[in-house]
Amino acid sequence: MADMAIKDTKMIGFTNFPDADILDSMGQFGAKHYERLNLVVRKTEGAWLYDMAGNKYLDCLAAYSAANQGHHHPKIVKAVVDALNGGYGSVISNVLFTDSLGLFVKKLSSLVPQLGKRFGDNGNKSLLKNGGVESVETAIKMMRYYGWKSKGIEDGKQEIIVFNNNFHGRMITVVSFSSAKKYKEGFGPLTPGFVSVEYGDVDAVKKAINKNTCGILVEPMQGEGGMYIPPDGFLRGLRDLSDKHDLFLTFDEIQVGLGRTGKIFCFQHENVIPDGLILGKAISGGLIPLSAFVTNGKMMDLAFKPGSDGSTYGGYPLACVAGHAALDVLIDEKLPEKAMEKGKILKTKIEEIAARSSHVKEVRGKGLFIGIEVNNGDAMKYCRMLLELGVLANDSHGHTIRISPPLIINDQEIEYLIERLEKVLID
Ligand SMILES: Cc1ncc(COP(=O)(O)O)c(C=O)c1O
Repeated sequence: MADMAIKDTKMIGFTNFPDADILDSMGQFGAKHYERLNLVVRKTEGAWLYDMAGNKYLDCLAAYSAANQGHHHPKIVKAVVDALNGGYGSVISNVLFTDSLGLFVKKLSSLVPQLGKRFGDNGNKSLLKNGGVESVETAIKMMRYYGWKSKGIEDGKQEIIVFNNNFHGRMITVVSFSSAKKYKEGFGPLTPGFVSVEYGDVDAVKKAINKNTCGILVEPMQGEGGMYIPPDGFLRGLRDLSDKHDLFLTFDEIQVGLGRTGKIFCFQHENVIPDGLILGKAISGGLIPLSAFVTNGKMMDLAFKPGSDGSTYGGYPLACVAGHAALDVLIDEKLPEKAMEKGKILKTKIEEIAARSSHVKEVRGKGLFIGIEVNNGDAMKYCRMLLELGVLANDSHGHTIRISPPLIINDQEIEYLIERLEKVLID
């Protein structure tokens, strides 16, 4: 393949190199850490992806919820372009203050209901990072520090309760407590200090608590684990146990927060408020990596002092500018409400298909977070068929087709999707 050249402006996307060259380049020079579907995307807009020939694909993955606001939302793009053109979007050492960071942490911390109410009405504070997994690590540090400093657990003995089939990212500490062998095999030594129990089972959590337990880390709905919604009362049960045993309860809403399930925050369905909250993906509208750990101000100040955490790009101006615009779009365009409304329509239509299909085992979901579990356990088979028909979807945990389009999806796009699901799920 010849050296990359920036394309003739009439072409779609970054270059005019043919797809075959791109696939060759990936095969020869890229890590093979993803099993990719056979589509080279050249352009994205709203709920759609485009290939070089200009074929359209309805994006029902939305980058695992990073594109909740739709691809290239004009308001977020404008904010980023203005920041670049205006010279206030580059990386600046975190040893200084920036207005975009100062105002973004205010916006984010105020958007979240008071976390860790038992620690007092101190408001919330946010610590920003880049990818989601980094903020999960921040939360783990918080929970461990709390256990040591506040509960008197010997440092190094702190234990956190997590759940089977969890997904919190792919760095060493986080894969250490994953149930998936392929995430961690050969990557030892793994990080100790985690106990994993059945998702949805409050009694199992109760049994796992001991004198060294400092916290609970949970996804209020499991995304990668198979699109599971826990039984009613599960989150309440975790809250009660955390209050009783003084455990730091943290919700990872990286995938299911920020409107995806029909509420700004997933925990608002049951009105169970955690002590710590992890956000990512849609927090910056799918344009710039950004993630956050948010907690009660008193707790943030307890655990994090100068030097105890940090990141070169975490909370840099361009990401915060995108974050401001992304949160504004989420609220101003009422995306959680839209996700609730469109999700109900979509799920009902999918259930109608499922009732006539011999392929579907179960349909589950809330808002625009919908899983279709298939009988043969091979969801990718159906996702490949959907791709041929102009729909991008992928599997969750092998057995479930994940339907999680951008929250701006409209009625015509829902019809387009339903027609194609009908084709692949009805013989
Ligand atoms: C619940 C949850 N936590 C953490 C992560 C990791 O986020 P990232 O891939 O941005 O590191 C993900 C990613 O899918 C996720 O769904």
